[in-house]
Amino acid sequence: MQDAKEEIRARLSIEDVVGQYVELKKAGRSLKGRSPWGVDKTPSFMVSPEKGIWHDFSANKGGDIFTFVMEVEGIGFREALEKLAGQAGVDLTKYRGGDPKVARRKSRAKEALALATRYYQACLTRNKSVCEYVFYKRNLNRGIVEEFKIGYAPASGKALLRVLEKRGYSEEELDAAGLLNRFKSDMFRDRMMVPFIDTTGNVIGFTARILGKGEPKYLNTPETILFNKSRFIFGLYQAKEAIRRNGYVVIVEGNMDVISSHQAGVKEAVATSGTAMTEQHLKILSNVTSDIRLAYDGDEAGVRATERAIMMAGDLGIDLTVISDYHGAKDPDELIQKDPKLWQEAVGKSEPAMEWLLKKYEESVDLSSAMGKRKYSDVALKMLGYVTDEVERASYEEKIAKKLGVEVQILRDKGTRLEEKLKQSSKKYIKKPKTEADINRLRKIEDSLLALKVFGGITRVQIPIEVPEDDTRLDELELVFNTEHQDAGLENLEKEAKELLVRYNTEIRKQKIAELNERLAGVDDESDEYDDILREIRDLQKT
Ligand code: UTP
Ligand code: MN
Repeated sequence: MQDAKEEIRARLSIEDVVGQYVELKKAGRSLKGRSPWGVDKTPSFMVSPEKGIWHDFSANKGGDIFTFVMEVEGIGFREALEKLAGQAGVDLTKYRGGDPKVARRKSRAKEALALATRYYQACLTRNKSVCEYVFYKRNLNRGIVEEFKIGYAPASGKALLRVLEKRGYSEEELDAAGLLNRFKSDMFRDRMMVPFIDTTGNVIGFTARILGKGEPKYLNTPETILFNKSRFIFGLYQAKEAIRRNGYVVIVEGNMDVISSHQAGVKEAVATSGTAMTEQHLKILSNVTSDIRLAYDGDEAGVRATERAIMMAGDLGIDLTVISDYHGAKDPDELIQKDPKLWQEAVGKSEPAMEWLLKKYEESVDLSSAMGKRKYSDVALKMLGYVTDEVERASYEEKIAKKLGVEVQILRDKGTRLEEKLKQSSKKYIKKPKTEADINRLRKIEDSLLALKVFGGITRVQIPIEVPEDDTRLDELELVFNTEHQDAGLENLEKEAKELLVRYNTEIRKQKIAELNERLAGVDDESDEYDDILREIRDLQKT
């Protein structure tokens, strides 16, 4: 595989790969652009064409073309390799390593699914009553039907099977692609077919809607070698461009909401398919943009889904906002059927998720009764634990206290008590001790220190961090050094190193304390271990 990587690297320049996502301008021997993770205000994304590496100073990550594609697309190494191999025209099956049998099975499945898609598309144009459903009942236009490759699966039991068998595909291969049911007949019959298209443009499965009423409403491809529902994001392939251009993504509940939204000109819409949102979905999206807007239904299920999303996002250090101005429609599709303009406006008016949740809680209890106040504060405090920014949390605390007509301190006391209780039942912490932001901060200091240690020629300051052996990492550190410190004299470099060391030690100590606190929560408070941990924490707090 190393050989394949080398060959791909030789054929693709880093400017070309990164340039597909980031607009780059020359800056001396490097190139400069805006972070694709959208967290910088001034360009802080650097590329060194000479070394074939990149570094993002605002998001604090870096690497080569492979890690770039992995990060920006939110995909694994294998997928990134395949994608870049495709662009470079490198045939991966020539290289050993990575199981060639698996690669072969995957590419056969992809081909079968591509053929199935075309077959379903042809069947749609031939069937008048289905066209009626798609174009009139669902109100989709030709362009969008084409873009999303919508089709129709005929009612007879083995229509697709026969077509694909004639093309040389075995039953086993079609089964692996998720096209057969357990009776070895066509999985999908008499349904509107909507393909799952991955971020490279390959069809990896389908969601199939019944044309009238009936169960199940949607039938989805099961998990296969190609389709993994806890990672797949419906519509991302079609939405990527718009999300990058406009800097936000809209998550809706249904696949049809995505398609309608695109037709209505809001092309930043995506959905999870056949499953609730997972951490992986959120991570993938947060790699593309930091402005994530949820457009879930306003019913009870929508509130639960939003709560779950806030909890996951809080753990990942991501902020969410909520779109809720539906004018009485039950979902975005229904609103768009009323008037596409209303949806476009709604998307522009999203509010912080916590604010939206508090309003929902308020609607569901009677705040004039003691019982209502208790319930309201219970749920509000629980969710407040996921707001990572202290200032923001304090501002919500004030708001909630005002609603309840109590002093903020009373609310805080209750929060502390609930936290204690949770700790004792050794359930998950209310407050996560170590957030992504903490880890990033430490990494950034570490990088700067290492850059000084390796390239700064410093002798009088001891930097107790091990120098990495990986060449790419070293090149990256050189880029960090050239950008941050190139013109400073030795004296200034040493001063800088000393300051960084102080911050470094403080961070390390903070994280150690947080880790110990976490361990403490899971230990019997009358044991020796509990005392030991507590002593360690005290010692750390003193230094
Ligand atoms: P909805 O029932 O809200 O979908 O389910 P919808 O988009 O409004 O459907 P239409 O407008 O009646 O056609 C939301 C999502 O839940 C999953 C699908 O991913 C769907 O898009 N779902 C729903 C299923 O997987 N199976 C089902 O039977 C129903
Ligand atoms: Mn709907």
